[in-house]
Amino acid sequence: MVFTSHKKLSQFLKDFRSSNKSIGFVPTMGALHDGHLALMNKALEENDLLVTSIFVNPTQFNNQADLEKYPRLLEEDLKKIKTHIPEDRFVLYAPAVEDVYGSNAKAKNYEFGELENVMEGAQRPGHFDGVGTILEFLFKAVRPDRAYFGEKDFQQLQIIKKLVDILDLELEIIGCPIHREKSGLAMSSRNGLLTPENFEKAAHIYRILTQSKEYFKNHDIQETEQFVKEQVEAISGFTLEYYTIADEKTLVPASAKDPEKQYRAFIVVHLQGVRLIDNIPMY
Ligand code: PAJ
Repeated sequence: MVFTSHKKLSQFLKDFRSSNKSIGFVPTMGALHDGHLALMNKALEENDLLVTSIFVNPTQFNNQADLEKYPRLLEEDLKKIKTHIPEDRFVLYAPAVEDVYGSNAKAKNYEFGELENVMEGAQRPGHFDGVGTILEFLFKAVRPDRAYFGEKDFQQLQIIKKLVDILDLELEIIGCPIHREKSGLAMSSRNGLLTPENFEKAAHIYRILTQSKEYFKNHDIQETEQFVKEQVEAISGFTLEYYTIADEKTLVPASAKDPEKQYRAFIVVHLQGVRLIDNIPMY
């Protein structure tokens, strides 16, 4: 079933919930790939009903050109859903901007603390306020028991846990592993914007990440960062936005190794004007 009105969606789910059944929620921006489908399958395994949203949320884009070129493939998405997801356990919410924001698409302001000052927060001002705004709206419309998010956007996942805390929602946030192409490239809706040649080339990002994990065993943080910088610069067409090794719990960038801590490395590379993001645990 497909809803374009959040009011009708909420009414339908209210009736559904009254029969004591559980709801798993997978929010997306569409251009669905196997990473999204894995989240949807997990939600189906753990809940009676799967609710998915497809909405390219304007308030989380800090760059107008990025918003405009973001792939919108609703027809294809619906076909993928039809072949992979049982129809009787699935509800899709695919609204127009007005159903969410009325005539004024504006982000709220949240206090996410240090989390919003590092990496994606620092590089994309206002981005996490936009993510918070859409998810607050969606969580309140869907009122799911569990919501599923990918570790590909690891910082987003931490922000969402914090959002649930701030809003005091009764909702379990479940993180799911990164789904990759055979080449190692993290699946992403943005990959479809790459030429076939660059799609192949983008696999170097994961190769460099895994090499940096090896390198990190015998080198300090600055040396590892320098190593990655050189590796990325060696690939024609690659521009490194950042490579950061951060404390996995707090996401505070690390400057010296502490044996008590676990680290995760985060990378953003630009290729053919496309922003590609990935991360890897360093332990
Ligand atoms: P989108 O980029 O469409 O991603 C939807 C969900 O799929 C996110 O939780 C994301 O982390 C997850 N995901 C994407 N690629 C993945 C991969 N290769 N492996 C595992 N999970 C993957 O993230 C967003 O949309 C938006 O910010 C949203 C949360 C929907 C708010 O607008």
